[in-house]
Amino acid sequence: MRADGDVPTADDDPTAAGDESAAGSDGSGVVRRDRFSGGPARNFLSSLAADERIFAADLAVDRAHVVMLAEQGIVDEAVAGEILAAIDDVEDAGHGALPDGEDVHEAIETAVVDRVGPDGGKMHTARSRNDEVAACIRYRLRADLLDAVEGTVALREALVETAEDHVDTVMPGYTHLQPAQPTTVAHFLLSYESAVARDTARLLDASDRTNRSPLGAAAFAGTPFDIDRERTAELLGFDGIVENSMDAAAGRDFLAESTAALATHATTLSGLAEDIVVFANRGFVDLADEYASTSSIMPQKVNPDTLELVRAVAGDAVGGLTGLLTTLKGLPRAYNRDLQRATPHAWETVDAVTEATDVAAGAVATAEWPEETLEAAAGEGFSTATGVADALAMAGVPFRTAHEVLAAASEEADDGTPDIDTLDAVTVDVIGESLFEYVSRERVEAALDPVESVASRDSVGGPAPEAVAAQLEAAAAGIETDAAALDERRDALAAAATTLESEVAAYV
Ligand code: ARG
Repeated sequence: MRADGDVPTADDDPTAAGDESAAGSDGSGVVRRDRFSGGPARNFLSSLAADERIFAADLAVDRAHVVMLAEQGIVDEAVAGEILAAIDDVEDAGHGALPDGEDVHEAIETAVVDRVGPDGGKMHTARSRNDEVAACIRYRLRADLLDAVEGTVALREALVETAEDHVDTVMPGYTHLQPAQPTTVAHFLLSYESAVARDTARLLDASDRTNRSPLGAAAFAGTPFDIDRERTAELLGFDGIVENSMDAAAGRDFLAESTAALATHATTLSGLAEDIVVFANRGFVDLADEYASTSSIMPQKVNPDTLELVRAVAGDAVGGLTGLLTTLKGLPRAYNRDLQRATPHAWETVDAVTEATDVAAGAVATAEWPEETLEAAAGEGFSTATGVADALAMAGVPFRTAHEVLAAASEEADDGTPDIDTLDAVTVDVIGESLFEYVSRERVEAALDPVESVASRDSVGGPAPEAVAAQLEAAAAGIETDAAALDERRDALAAAATTLESEVAAYV
């Protein structure tokens, strides 16, 4: 980078900034020396620094491509061996040792040609950076998505394990942030487990669609060489190929889909974080010290900062998705350099969201839910009113009329919570009959008790302990299935990496 603030001109020597080590012998990349010697926009154009993320991916893609070229007799085996040995050497030297270049693809090729001589340039037979970069992004992103999946599975485990301890812990449930109906901590936590389970599914789906090989599309228009696209796909652990070569080079909907799945998950996380922040404020949950933060001035404070940051990551993710989609929108076929600036949105999003997921899982796993405080609050705000209305409706009173009785009784009471006698008096006013003509006093008392209220709501998916037991079982089974799906995918990638390694070893 220029430090002098001068506006660069076309006459500027692109290597004058002391960047010799990062340049080929003539100060530019060896590759296409005559075509690209830099210029004022050299740094602007280059993605080399950002490409560190796909350095290992590019080495794998290069290896698979060269092995395939040798197998197809397009490059002879001796040359393939020299190129593959040079790639090993480039790997050992690391990304930081790469020569200057427009991007990692060009820089690696330059480094190989530096070692092998002109024959090194045969590695770029029958391909283009367009299919190459698409392959690299897919190769790296699929692994990052699996890491994100792992995070969601761990969060679900934390939610389920905590829920198991709190099937009977009643708490207030809210709508509009107002006490609405009593529920349980388990029911509340499982509501997020269900949402995160869908996030896992979306991420797995996105990773499966990402895991297709665009390699062999070349610039977009295919190649006259007798390449074997299925073979490179197999060597790289892809589940198959992106067939249409123009789609393969141009398509970035896998980035959009993946980033959207991450942003959706971040939005789920932000709701969970917000609930925990609000509950912590009310003394309904105690965060472990390691997930709380103190004030630099107010000694008494313990703040839920980590959860506030988790909540904020949704902003980053939505920003990443918006940046990505806005960059992709309206791009014509087949390759445009705009795509270079699309990719980092996905990296930033996957990193931020995966980290937030891990933090949320830790916070959930270590938090305490004070049962007495929660139970005391569970009936606040006449939150059992619906249960009394339900009891009246079960006795044959139209629900709308029952609703009217309870609304009038609530209005009648100073604090909004009528006693049983007030309930009865209002029933007489509204229906012309005593409440106890319909429901026994014990039944009304039970309906007004938060624990009984919860126990009565045993419809499928409801908060009653036996309904929650079924949800816990289903959640545990879902976690097991998804953990197995994750292992299966990672095992397949590891097996492909081992195969590629031994194929390469046969030449080197
Ligand atoms: N760095 C580029 C990217 O990320 C690689 C592809 C360059 N291809 C090209 N035709 N200029 O998209």
